[in-house]
Amino acid sequence: MTNTAEIPTHIAIVMDGNGRWAQKRKRPRTFGHQAGLKALRKIVEHAGKSGVRELTVFAFSSENWSRPKKEVGRLMDLFMRALDRETKELHENGVRIRFIGDLAAFAPEMQQKIDSAMTQTAENRKMTLNVAANYGGRWDIVNAARKTAEAVANGQIMLDEVDENYFSRQAALGDSSNPDLFIRTGGEMRISNFLLWQCAYTEFYFTPVLWPDFAPAVLDEAIATYQSRERRYGLTGEQIKDRYSA
Ligand code: IPE
Ligand code: IPE
Ligand code: MG
Repeated sequence: MTNTAEIPTHIAIVMDGNGRWAQKRKRPRTFGHQAGLKALRKIVEHAGKSGVRELTVFAFSSENWSRPKKEVGRLMDLFMRALDRETKELHENGVRIRFIGDLAAFAPEMQQKIDSAMTQTAENRKMTLNVAANYGGRWDIVNAARKTAEAVANGQIMLDEVDENYFSRQAALGDSSNPDLFIRTGGEMRISNFLLWQCAYTEFYFTPVLWPDFAPAVLDEAIATYQSRERRYGLTGEQIKDRYSA
């Protein structure tokens, strides 16, 4: 048995295709973002039931600020409303909510809602939902490098003690395991500056399904594909078989 026969502990998702989903219906892009939120609600619930312990979703990239002002404004409104409406139910279901990204760029009111959702759910352990907002993988790496440099300058750690483990802990999700499975909907086969550091050995799954149509059955399919793979981490297939048959 290889370890992939198990349910992935941590899944990262690039929820892409909201705009195209709406355009196909001759509706404004924002309509797609609303439908995307509904899809997320269902997927969080289904992932929890399936035994996934951690879900990290890309909600807004550092590059998404460059979209038309109106779309950005609508997205911010949607995030605020989602924080108001969804936090209670997630909390009741034992979900811990965390945000990753450069949150200082958001309006004070939104930052306050984010803080409150994180504090309220901090002790929940059934599942963790990480929302990447104003997140960029390169920002994350630079931020971790800065924190590391600061710790070295302050004498908290010696330069030659800085290793991959230490650096990982300075990056976003530093206290989580790395994503086992990366899913991108919407048909694009690129990482778009998501978890660059954390996905070094993650399994990738791309689907043309647009995010608002991403139903629980598609998640099951992604998980089944993951389970059929062999993660080798640079070793040979033989070595992996020996290791798991021992
Ligand atoms: C993803 O859907 C959601 C965000 C980036 C906020 P898009 O809005 O990128 O949808 P498409 O890719 O244009 O269809
Ligand atoms: C990635 O989608 C970001 C989110 C899903 C939040 P984009 O739609 O921004 O990515 P590109 O522009 O197609 O690379
Ligand atoms: Mg897109």
